[in-house]
Amino acid sequence: MEREIYFDNSATTQVHPEVADLMHETMIRNYGNPSSLHKKGVQAEQAVSHVRKILAGALQVAPEEIYFTSGGTESNNTAIKGIVHAYKSRGNHIITSNVEHPSVLNVFDHLEELGFRVTYLRVNENGVIDLDELQDLLCNDTLLVSLMHVNNEVGSIQPIKEVGEILKGYHKKVYYHVDAVQSFGKLPVYPGKWGIDLLSISGHKFHGPKGIGALYIRKGTRVKALVEGGGQEKSLRSGTENVPGIVGLGKAAELAVQDREAHAQKMNAIRETLASRIREKVPNCRINSNFDGTGAPHILNISFPGTRSEVLLHYLEQDGIYVSSGSACSARKGKLSHVLTAMQLTEEEMEGSIRFSFSYFNEMDEVMPVVESVTKAVKELRELTGRK
Ligand SMILES: Cc1ncc(COP(=O)(O)O)c(C=O)c1O
Repeated sequence: MEREIYFDNSATTQVHPEVADLMHETMIRNYGNPSSLHKKGVQAEQAVSHVRKILAGALQVAPEEIYFTSGGTESNNTAIKGIVHAYKSRGNHIITSNVEHPSVLNVFDHLEELGFRVTYLRVNENGVIDLDELQDLLCNDTLLVSLMHVNNEVGSIQPIKEVGEILKGYHKKVYYHVDAVQSFGKLPVYPGKWGIDLLSISGHKFHGPKGIGALYIRKGTRVKALVEGGGQEKSLRSGTENVPGIVGLGKAAELAVQDREAHAQKMNAIRETLASRIREKVPNCRINSNFDGTGAPHILNISFPGTRSEVLLHYLEQDGIYVSSGSACSARKGKLSHVLTAMQLTEEEMEGSIRFSFSYFNEMDEVMPVVESVTKAVKELRELTGRK
């Protein structure tokens, strides 16, 4: 079989075999409903409680502060809508950035239609927000700040801890939500210590299953439920728990967190080597991700002006290489990426941008075949369009 190189791990990851085995075992043996009073129910409930403890340990928070959801999108929706609806008497102003995932941006659009005043923090050319701008925007009416930790398109890291400090020091309580979907398991993140009230994670980004995630909610924070029903998850999220998914999420989290630093070093070495080899071999390309500790270890976004990323992506696919188009608009009505637009790239740079994203499953010997394939494809595409 032709070798496949999967460099699209920010889209999703392969389920770890140990995770799949444990889920299989759970599905056929531990199939009880956690709400049932008999032994089968108790066993299922114990499995769920065990994972709550694993996630709490990884985030250094209390198990009662962990709630299971269907993934990042639901965690983000629950956190943001849940806070503004629970506390709307306390303020009408909500803040986010203009490089968030659509599961945040579209919720803010919806809340704006409902009458909330929305402010979007801008980012600099490195994709990072400005703390002074945030400080200036805070006012007596501000209710919520929602920010992503790692950007899914370029891997920029927001100063999450510093924002927490600013909000802790503000004279009025402002709720703070962090979308940690791209950072959990890759960077340290400690919501309890960092002043974060709500934090979203998603299993399929770190070799867990799809359709399962979690939301950390600081003790004492009220969140209005999106789904009503049998009262599971302390009535925040009714519906019979996805026990195999939860068990898989726990195993994947354990595997990701126990060797987090070694994994991050491995991914970052692959990322740096790929960036420098491409820079050597491909003239006129632009690296859109940050280095020297200021960029996430697993995301590398590069523009190849004179190409179209969708076409380039399919060229690479013919060599068994899987990447993402960094140019496609994933959030708003415009044609091009809202993140690259916010970072002020030219149209040509945006149109030819590719996201390579890594996991601890990747190996250094995958780099050179990708460099060769990219070099060849970019050359051919530029010749077709008459570019050098
Ligand atoms: C930053 C970020 N937030 C949220 C999500 C949504 O997560 P899920 O696919 O689990 O709904 C993603 C997924 O791409 C993401 O990258």
